[in-house]
Amino acid sequence: MKFNIPLKTFLLGGLASQITEARPKEPYTELYRPQFHFSPQKNWINDPNGLVYEDGTYHLYYQYNPGGATWGALSWGHATSKDLTHWTEQPVALLARGFPDNVTEMFFSGSIVVDEENTSGFGRQGRAPWVAIYTSFYPMEQTLPSGKHVREGQQAQSIAYSLDQGLTWTTYDESNPVIPEPPAPYQDQYLEFRDPNIFWHQQTKQWVALVVVSKIHKVLIYNSRDLKHWSLASEFGPVNAIGGVWECPSVFPLPLDGGKSTKWVMLLSLNPGGPPGTVGSGGQYIIGDFNGTTFTPDLDSIHERSAPEGSVIFQGFEGTESYADRGWVATGDFIGVSPSVGTLAGQNPVTGFLGKQLVNTFLNGDSSTGTLISPAFDISHKYINFLVGGGSNLNKTAIRLKVDGNVVRDAAGSNSEHLTWQSWDVSSFQNRSAVIEIIDNATEGWGHISVDEISFSNSAAKNEEANWLDWGPDFYAALGFNGLPPNQHTIISWMSNWQYGGVIPTDPWRGAYTVPRHLSLKTIGQKARLVQEPAGSWKAITRGGKTSTFSLVDGVRNLGQIGKAIEINLVFSDREPSPTGDSEFGIIVRATKDLSQQTRVGYDFATQRVFIDRTRSGDISFDDTFASIYSAPLSPSSDGTVALRIFVDWSSVEVFGGEGETTITAQIFPSSNATYGQLFSIGGKTENINLHTKEIRSTWR
Ligand code: FRU
Repeated sequence: MKFNIPLKTFLLGGLASQITEARPKEPYTELYRPQFHFSPQKNWINDPNGLVYEDGTYHLYYQYNPGGATWGALSWGHATSKDLTHWTEQPVALLARGFPDNVTEMFFSGSIVVDEENTSGFGRQGRAPWVAIYTSFYPMEQTLPSGKHVREGQQAQSIAYSLDQGLTWTTYDESNPVIPEPPAPYQDQYLEFRDPNIFWHQQTKQWVALVVVSKIHKVLIYNSRDLKHWSLASEFGPVNAIGGVWECPSVFPLPLDGGKSTKWVMLLSLNPGGPPGTVGSGGQYIIGDFNGTTFTPDLDSIHERSAPEGSVIFQGFEGTESYADRGWVATGDFIGVSPSVGTLAGQNPVTGFLGKQLVNTFLNGDSSTGTLISPAFDISHKYINFLVGGGSNLNKTAIRLKVDGNVVRDAAGSNSEHLTWQSWDVSSFQNRSAVIEIIDNATEGWGHISVDEISFSNSAAKNEEANWLDWGPDFYAALGFNGLPPNQHTIISWMSNWQYGGVIPTDPWRGAYTVPRHLSLKTIGQKARLVQEPAGSWKAITRGGKTSTFSLVDGVRNLGQIGKAIEINLVFSDREPSPTGDSEFGIIVRATKDLSQQTRVGYDFATQRVFIDRTRSGDISFDDTFASIYSAPLSPSSDGTVALRIFVDWSSVEVFGGEGETTITAQIFPSSNATYGQLFSIGGKTENINLHTKEIRSTWR
């Protein structure tokens, strides 16, 4: 076997002999410093990378800027743990090439495998190499040591290896990048091609890599025998949530219902376009099967985008006829025009429409204006449903319903190229004659509208777009550990959001990870669902523990000072919602004595949703969208109770609802005297409340 001679190695401080378990010198007591979540001593982090378990040690690599607390000079930081709870920061594993003065290559997200059989040939003297695959981001055009030429801003997949169990790494400069660009017909997507995830597929005895072509919502699946040569096997997507770019794909097997069968689960991050009610980043999962080359989703894991069953399609804009030929009156720039085929030149991809064609008024860019008026029709059903995207200004880019010449309903996009369903309840206009009008009189700044699938139905169309991994705003780039058996699959996510991740008020670090979460699949309500539970040595870091059982009539119960880092287990009976007004039960955490600061975690009996309300959670000033309420569906369990397990830290709240089928994760920035707690019951009596709180000790001291 031939050995490759690296042109450049990143040896930081020489070949370190062993991974140390020294505690950090810093006390980790700054305001907002996570006490039982990983955060670096200083500087910026985003996605977790290369999670791998080997020889009793969990390795966490991550997107890291060695030069400061904002995104830049992306390198791979490294931390290790024996128990997923106590972490030790290690030397930087892959330092941005040319750092600090002339960065020519950054190391974006990726993954690591232990190459036990030395398929790569990087091994020496019987030592199994660890191989990392990552996205090389090249800020400038250049010819690489391998002789390959890359363009400015190109993203390509490269590898590196380690012969000392992940401490120091050698980039494979002889040949990098090993996947230089996206295949035909996606070559023009070389600026958005990233986040390789690799694993060994035992049944077919080969390596598998997933890479996303982010903007067009495609996962490319590659195979390899040696981790160096990759061939494209299949592609997957777009499906379900596509409201932003796709990032950080992965796929892995998980036992269903305790091991009766095994299913494969794909994770995808997307930004923006996270769960309803959030702004910015989020994650989704899709359950299916994987045979080493192809991922086949389960039908009930894919959300149909079609109109509700029994709909009458009024206009789907398919086919080549012009608007006029279909009986529509076109004015302005739309005269003589036909519906558009997907994306028009110079525009970001339009997504979420059905079939091949749609109305898209981005003709001569935003500058085109005009109107499209449908033929008259009689209102025959309760709802008119349609897909709409583009500009949000109702006066400029809108779809309208006119009855007797008056506008009675209107709708617009939300400054996004993604079309979503909107519905008009038109029951009060039954049997009246109407027309639909699409207007565009804007010439710049989201000065266009997209419309598709105008249809009549007796039910409103729903935007059930995804299986959300977590319903909160701060759960991104989830990644699982390689090296663990399927029944121990554990993920870690970046506990932040691209919307405000760069301006959160922490210093001298920025960014933290969620508690590691063990994943499994359970059939709940006749559907396989992903279930999460916190992983780690909780017993070692929790102390005290008070349990009490009681009822609470409309009102509050003060809990006094419950602390800043706490685990709360709260179980209570479901109840009939009050016929008038709100019906909620929950707990206030991280409150100041006067409650001017508080974070509410509760359950709404009317909507059967669990929520985190961080509108008064402390410092909310750094981003307009931060002060919000996030909610997620959670059915009571079969015994009629609702269970919430809540982890509160100095700057975060994570809620695990039910058996863990619903989670919500949110950052909060309360002041240091926000240590009080209170229970609340609104709109009725909550019974059989069982409250158990435990203090969580710092893992850093
Ligand atoms: C996701 C991401 C990845 C990329 C990395 C760069 O958060 O945008 O797609 O590899 O961050 O830091």
